[in-house]
Parts: sequence; C-alpha cells; structure tokens
Amino acid sequence: MRTQVAIIGAGPAGLLLGQLLSRQGIDNVIIERKSGDYVLSRIRAGVLEQGMVQMLEEAGVAERLHREGLVHDGFSLAFDGRRHRIDLKGLTGGKTVTVYGQTEVTHDLMVAREGIGATTIYEADDVVLHDFDGASPRVSFVKDGVRTELACDFIAGCDGFHGVSRRSVPEGAIQEFERVYPFGWLGVLADVPPAAHELVYASAERGFALCSMRSATRSRYYVQVSLDEEVEDWSDERFFDELRRRLPEDVAAAVTVGPSIEKSIAPLRSFVAEPMRFGRLFLAGDAAHIVPPTGAKGLNLAASDIHYLSQSLIEHYRDRSDTGIATYSQRALARIWKAERFSWWMTGLLHKFPANTPFEQRMQRAEFDHIANSTVGSAGVAENYVGLPY
Ligand code: APR
Ligand code: PHB
Repeated sequence: MRTQVAIIGAGPAGLLLGQLLSRQGIDNVIIERKSGDYVLSRIRAGVLEQGMVQMLEEAGVAERLHREGLVHDGFSLAFDGRRHRIDLKGLTGGKTVTVYGQTEVTHDLMVAREGIGATTIYEADDVVLHDFDGASPRVSFVKDGVRTELACDFIAGCDGFHGVSRRSVPEGAIQEFERVYPFGWLGVLADVPPAAHELVYASAERGFALCSMRSATRSRYYVQVSLDEEVEDWSDERFFDELRRRLPEDVAAAVTVGPSIEKSIAPLRSFVAEPMRFGRLFLAGDAAHIVPPTGAKGLNLAASDIHYLSQSLIEHYRDRSDTGIATYSQRALARIWKAERFSWWMTGLLHKFPANTPFEQRMQRAEFDHIANSTVGSAGVAENYVGLPY
C-alpha cells in the first residue's frame, strides 16, 4: 500500500486532518486501533472555539453543527455561592463559543470521510512507525491477522496520549513537561434539561463542580473527586446531591435529577511534548499535549494543531514549499503553551487542593474577586476562553 500522508488515529485530530487534506486532493490513509463504533462511544468534551467552528466549515462538515450546536455568548464562574458572568461576546468584540459534543464532531467527520471514499483502516493492531527520520517513512500494522505495510511521504501522529507515535520518538529527541493534579473529575451524562442556559463553573468548600450540556434536553455535569474514588461508589442520587451542594442556590434548585446514561472518572493532567516534529513524523492533538478540561481546550487545541499541520502539508504538495513544515512545531507550541497556561490557571482558581494553605485559599478568593470586579480581569478570561488567534 502507498499514500502521501499516513494518519495514525481516527479521533478528532486525525479525522479533521484527513478531511482537510482530501479536499485538497492529497491522498491519505487513517490507521485506527479501535472500531468506528468504539471511537464514537467515547464521551468527551463539548465546547468549540470560534476557530474550530471555522475549521469545520473549511472541512465542509459544519452543517449539522450550525443546525444543532448551541451558540453561547457567556458562561458563569461561581465562588462560595456568589456568581459572576463572563460576557464572552461583550468582552471579545463579538466572539462566542458553540456547545456541540466531540462525539458529534467525530460522527460528522466520519460520515464525510465515508462520503468521499477515503480509506480508514479500523481495528488495526500492533501499529509500528518506521524510518520517519529518513525520506521514505512507513507504517506497518496487523489487520485480520495479516501484517501490512503502508509506504508514505509523511506520518501524522494523531493517536492521542496513549498512542504509539510519541513513544516511537527516540528518548533523547523529545522533552516532556507534566503536572498531574491531585484530583479527578467524576462526569455524568443524563437526558435532563440543563440547570442553566450557559455553563456554570462552581468552586465551593466541598470542591469544584461544572454544569454543562449537550443540548436543551441533555446535560453534562462534573464534580471534583479525590483520586482514590471509584465510580462504582457513586450512585446517581449521591452524585446529584453532591453536585447541588457545590452550586449556587438558584442553580442547585434548577438541577433536574435523572438516570445517568454515562458516568466516569477522568484524571487531570497538564502535559506537553517538545518538539512536535521528528523528520517526517508530526505529532498533533493529545499525542503531543494534554490539558485539564477546566478550560475546555483539549479538542480546540487538536483543531489548531491541525490548522497548522494541514496548511504545512498543503503548501508542501501544492506550492512545493517546506517553510510550513519547518515551522510547524514552533507555531503549534506557541499557541499550545498559552492554552496550557489558561487551563492550569482555571484549574488552580476553581479546585480544592488538599495541600493548599489558608493563605492560598485566600488567594483563590482574591483572584475570583478581582475577576468579578474588574472588566480587564474578566476580559482576560474571556479572550482565552473563546480561543486565542491561530
Ligand atoms: N494505533 C492506532 N490508533 C491509535 C493508537 C495506535 N497505537 N493508539 C491510539 N489510537 C487511536 C485512539 O483509539 C483514538 O481513536 O487514536 C485516536 C486518538 O484520538 P483522541 O485520543 O481523541 O485524540 P485527538 O484526536 O488528539 O483529540 C483530542 O480528544 O481525548 C480527547 O480530550 C481530548 O478533546 C480532546 C480530543
Ligand atoms: C463538557 O461539556 O463536557 C465540558 C464543558 C466545559 C469544560 C469541560 C467539559 O470546561
């Protein structure tokens, strides 16, 4: 087999890259470890920056997004029961975010890819990257028990944090930066109307909670839990009780309790691998970086990486220019680190840290009071939340 660009991973990063390359006539093959159904079953993030919406429009997959997505002009921060709305639209000259589940983005990209007849190899085992430091990289994998080899010009490692791509880079060629947080998020998806029409990020003595949504009839809620918690110990009743105890009274009163259709605990970490290019291998999305979900940046960073990478590969094939390829890592990392900072800062502001001293707890409150009473403070939050320019 041969293609121009081999893409490892059929998550949002891989699928979006494949769609943008295919629309420019650049041949690509996606190699995915899991089945398509499994990829679609993963419940993930749900807030799209305006830049990502534009990327999906460029990819020709934004029709359902515009029909079903919820455009939000703001969101609220709550601290010990006091609520402050961040007026995204007013503070950023009209920018907004769109609430639309990652599952839906993945579905729309999968349908589009099937529609153009591009090749995705699902349930590929034992994927191995070869010779990406030379001019003839290859990817081999086992499909239906047969090892197959795919020759290509470039490899895009879009295989997430636990993928094979980053691990294929020689240890001395990569530097990793990491912060693991001393808590996780217990998330629940339920077919009940949202407690508020915009997102509410709440910080309380008992810990952090988030009220989000997928539609007017489907809510997504999270509560901070310690790392030794087991999801089996959290009945729906216990979850909703804890959620309401952490919310401002009016929001808590508006919570509709209903059976969870998904419930899971996710750890929180900040992680960046530098650089993101190794010869003819490029890392993009979670393969190269992870953010705590507090800033809703994970999916959006995958999109901005793909903005830079797709542009670089298109320039290579269309304009015979390798300037984009040579600067991909530097340009992607400049934006990644700013999103890492914002996500780390939002996490530090809103969560209960076991090791925090009373002084540090006062700093959290003072930070909230500053934002709530300062247009400049709120604008700083707003410009990062809607997404910094690509
Ligand atoms: N070979 C092939 N595919 C692999 C391998 C492998 N060795 N390892 C992982 N994969 C696949 C996974 O099954 C997954 O479908 O790569 C894909 C990576 O997708 P994501 O983890 O969703 O990463 P990305 O596309 O970068 O999207 C980032 O997804 O995890 C969320 O919070 C994250 O919202 C962010 C977004
Ligand atoms: C979600 O809806 O899943 C969501 C929204 C905002 C976040 C994190 C998760 O910051």
